[in-house]
Amino acid sequence: MKTIIEPFRIKSVEPLRQTTPDERAGLLAEAGFNLFRLRAADILIDLLTDSGTSAMSTEQWAAMMRGDESYAGSASYFRLKSAAEDLMGFRHVIPTHQGRAAERILFSVLCKPGCVVPNNTHFDTTRANIEFTGARAVDLIPPEAHDTQAQLPFKGDMDTAALERLIVEHGRERIPLVMVTATNNSGGGQPVSMANLEQVREITRRHGIPLYLDACRFAENAWLIHEREAGYAHWSARDIARKMFSLADGCTFSAKKDAFANIGGLLCTNDDRLAQQEKDLLILTEGFPTYGGLAGRDLDAIAVGLVEVLDPYYLQYRIASTAYLGRHIADQGVPIVEPPGGHAIYIDAGRMLPHIPREQFPAQSLAVELYRHAGIRSVEIGSVMFGSHAQHELLRLAIPRRVYTQSHIDYVVEAIVEVNRGKELLRGYEITWQPEFLRHFSCQFRPLG
Ligand code: F0G
Repeated sequence: MKTIIEPFRIKSVEPLRQTTPDERAGLLAEAGFNLFRLRAADILIDLLTDSGTSAMSTEQWAAMMRGDESYAGSASYFRLKSAAEDLMGFRHVIPTHQGRAAERILFSVLCKPGCVVPNNTHFDTTRANIEFTGARAVDLIPPEAHDTQAQLPFKGDMDTAALERLIVEHGRERIPLVMVTATNNSGGGQPVSMANLEQVREITRRHGIPLYLDACRFAENAWLIHEREAGYAHWSARDIARKMFSLADGCTFSAKKDAFANIGGLLCTNDDRLAQQEKDLLILTEGFPTYGGLAGRDLDAIAVGLVEVLDPYYLQYRIASTAYLGRHIADQGVPIVEPPGGHAIYIDAGRMLPHIPREQFPAQSLAVELYRHAGIRSVEIGSVMFGSHAQHELLRLAIPRRVYTQSHIDYVVEAIVEVNRGKELLRGYEITWQPEFLRHFSCQFRPLG
């Protein structure tokens, strides 16, 4: 059969609430035109993030009932440790309440002012946690990947020549680790090839620098290697993922993505001394090392999710459903980051709305209009989120795992195509208030013109 179906059926449903465009215009004004400030109940289809928004499986809910809530030495921890070790192979598996907690602990231990941390592209929390220690976060994407329209299979790759130059320029002592984000979320959900990871491994080994994966979407990356990289068509996603992890010295992981969990994260390392320092910090803010700020039941949900996510029928459906959204809007003239990647479709709002300059946040303007027009929430990944570090003005439509059906996606396609038809009428925004860090979560806007 050629039709790729959702490889699950629905046992429990959540009603969606319809609102009118006029109601939504009022809600937007009240929220300062920042979609993070809306109430979720006022949203019809929520594509703000794929993080923590997955539908859990019957096996995950069953595992939650087995959760062991012991403060120390919980059986849930040992089930999670064994699932993580089997997949990732790291010696130390430290649970955290989510990915950014793992980042904060890792960078607090490794970074100080004067340090430089390269990544293919830092996610916003990664960059903020590095900068909070006084170190500098540097993005190293190859020049050809900057073109959103280029049809290249691995636009998430790190620029290895630039990495070599960076190491020579700053010296190995000032680079406490190199990170690779798979898939590259801020760069369009694009995968990293195994060949690139191997090159980065070779360079970091030669210079004696630890290599860490930001492994949030490791399974989607593994499937894209299976589909796109020569030599891996006969490999299982699990074996590809294992090989990816085997090239690294450790990882940070948000279980809210490719573990289908609603909360949770991991910090993994092969370095015994580092692991001890990390556990010491963990106790201060997260908790004892066998629960790390999570309930025992959460640890069990993650343990099951780490196995389920590598099911080839799931991954085939997942990647095909993202491409379905991308192709249907791109074929109608909406510029997206090509080719479609793993968890999201990114509209190149800078290209779609050339009459709105980047200082007036074209992707924010598009996000606001998509909500007003059709009740769909998306997220700006551009100058609002990254300020002067933004490389593009993108609007991300992130697809929660196992949550929406094809007809929901057809509705999204129709809405985007309609907004695209009236795009000349869209206007820019200015920021009227912002906090010191991660401004996109709470800043307020005013429409211009
Ligand atoms: N790294 C990447 C690549 C991410 O995409 C995220 C989160 C994190 C780290 C932090 O993990 O949320 O568990 O603390 N990304 C979400 C998103 C929030 O919407 O893309 P966390």
